[in-house]
Amino acid sequence: MSYQIREMTIDDYEDIIKMFRETPGISVREADSRDATRVYLQRNPGLSFVAVADARIVGCVMSGHDGRRGYLQHLVVKPEYRKQGIGVGLFTACLDALQKIGIYKTHIFVLKTNETGNNFWRNQGWFLRDEINMYSYNRSENTNA
Ligand SMILES: CC(C)(COP(=O)(O)OP(=O)(O)OC[C@H]1O[C@@H](n2cnc3c(N)ncnc32)[C@H](O)[C@@H]1OP(=O)(O)O)[C@@H](O)C(=O)NCCC(=O)NCCS
Repeated sequence: MSYQIREMTIDDYEDIIKMFRETPGISVREADSRDATRVYLQRNPGLSFVAVADARIVGCVMSGHDGRRGYLQHLVVKPEYRKQGIGVGLFTACLDALQKIGIYKTHIFVLKTNETGNNFWRNQGWFLRDEINMYSYNRSENTNA
């Protein structure tokens, strides 16, 4: 099986949102609306990617940065295309692009219940931050913001 990794554009939105919804362990929120995704891609150009095989999108990853640290989200590969290196290829594309703009350290938030995801990151050499508690504050009336 051969695949290509290319930059994600807003035209990929319908395909990728469908893939997120079908994937246990991935939370889809208001922040994943089409408009919000367009803004995210404009704000973080060249940092989100899709994998294409058999003439369709089979994986994707999004990343951005705050000028200091990188943040990776929504790494997903369709089940029938897993275990062939696409996941590693996708996140490596993000790390390469982030490094080119001077961002060397990147974080990812993974649900504790996502066993596949947690095992994957650990096996790929990412370190678990058990010394940090993450706190969030939601100013939206929408609890799924
Ligand atoms: C996590 C996820 C993106 C990995 O995608 P993937 O394409 O299977 O990833 P890779 O093929 O690059 O690597 C997966 C494993 O296959 C192994 N592998 C890679 N190429 C391989 C090959 N040709 N043959 C056999 N194994 C291979 C890797 O070493 C890796 O092993 P590990 O799981 O022990 O670390 C995928 O499982 C997924 O979409 N999960 C649901 C969403 C999710 O949890 N995302 C992460 C949280 S944000």
